[in-house]
Amino acid sequence: MDGLEYGVIDEAGVDEVAAIMRWSFGGGEDFAPRYVRETVGVDSVRVLRDGARAVAALALVPMGMWLGGRRLPLAAVAAVATAPEARGRGVSQALLAASLRELRAGGTALASLYPASLVLYRRNGFEIAGMNARHRARASAIDARDRALPVRPIGPEDMPAVMALHQELARGQDGNLDRGEAGWRPILRRRGVAATGLGVFDGGALVGYCWLRQAPASGHAPYDLEVADLAATTDAAWRRLLTLLRDHGSLGAEVRWGGPLADPVTLLLREEVHQVEEIRRWMLRLVDVGAALAGRGYFRGVTASVVIEVEDPVLPENAGRYRLEVAGGEAEVTRDDAGSGPVVRCPVGSLAAIFTGYAKASELARVGKVGGDPGAIALLDAIFHGPIPWHPDNY
Ligand SMILES: CC(C)(COP(=O)(O)OP(=O)(O)OC[C@H]1O[C@@H](n2cnc3c(N)ncnc32)[C@H](O)[C@@H]1OP(=O)(O)O)[C@@H](O)C(=O)NCCC(=O)NCCS
Repeated sequence: MDGLEYGVIDEAGVDEVAAIMRWSFGGGEDFAPRYVRETVGVDSVRVLRDGARAVAALALVPMGMWLGGRRLPLAAVAAVATAPEARGRGVSQALLAASLRELRAGGTALASLYPASLVLYRRNGFEIAGMNARHRARASAIDARDRALPVRPIGPEDMPAVMALHQELARGQDGNLDRGEAGWRPILRRRGVAATGLGVFDGGALVGYCWLRQAPASGHAPYDLEVADLAATTDAAWRRLLTLLRDHGSLGAEVRWGGPLADPVTLLLREEVHQVEEIRRWMLRLVDVGAALAGRGYFRGVTASVVIEVEDPVLPENAGRYRLEVAGGEAEVTRDDAGSGPVVRCPVGSLAAIFTGYAKASELARVGKVGGDPGAIALLDAIFHGPIPWHPDNY
């Protein structure tokens, strides 16, 4: 955008950026500067400057996303905000486009975000591609009474084991994040409130954990129980964790946690006491289409070859034809601009929704978001068939 300069900030720029973010996300005087310094980190902030003055900001938080058992480098885009006096002139549009160009040049294959407005992000090639379902059940109605395994508070010395346990599970769950240090921060502390970690141990080894916070009560209880993260590697550990949650039930607390829509935890409840409270959908951007297609894992039972013609006006390097050949759980991807034969035509946003398994190519074709040869479209259905991707993270 003419006259606006894209760049980073240093410590001296924190207050200026925090002032823009405060007009977007509220919080007290301290919230936005702490968010920049302690949650996303000063290094992750990008701004557009009009002369010496920052007019818009966002954060690019480096993480990874697991798909088909393989990790793709991902930037979590957070806190997109334009100063109130600069809104409505295309500033955030320009900031996002510049950020995507930077990510692509730096080798980041994917970007994701939770949208407040779909139009802005769709225009930049993002599409809804996964979810974070928030579940809820009355603690006293959880049917678990198994206290066999010991539980104790998690200390700093346990964190490597906690992170390793999360990583082990996340690898096998499409859409889960490789959080890295930055991705763990919003789990451990959110809006200034620290979470309490409790670990389940078996023979001295960590086999499960949960991170809990007290939240304002929805009923007559003194508080509800907000589960920031919950994971276990054995069924005994799951039973112990559910018992731990149930043990908050005497005063009527509700328990809320994030997971996949069909959360297996809900199958461990004996009565029909569970509700889906909210579904937060996240958007994904294929920043580097070739690297993304080649980098994810695929279902081993599928062998197929298909040509995809990608449209991407924001990152024209992505545009053109790709031959995607899948076999043995892996893909080979070649640029095939001169190629002929059956082709699927796909805006880069639609491809993001197909890529994670969130939407079927044939369904998107029915509503005009994908075009081309029906046989090739059916092949995409088979290649990307899988569970709806999810993560329980907020960023
Ligand atoms: C959303 C926001 C970042 C847009 O910034 P901006 O610089 O005014 O946006 P742009 O001028 O680049 O507009 C790009 C598109 O965003 C969408 N958009 C902008 N403001 C919007 C609003 N208030 N509501 C819904 N969509 C909006 C529009 O589709 C717009 O395109 P259009 O004008 O052709 O319809 C800005 O209004 C803001 O800071 N809001 C508060 C924080 C927020 O909601 N951030 C998003 C978190 S995911």
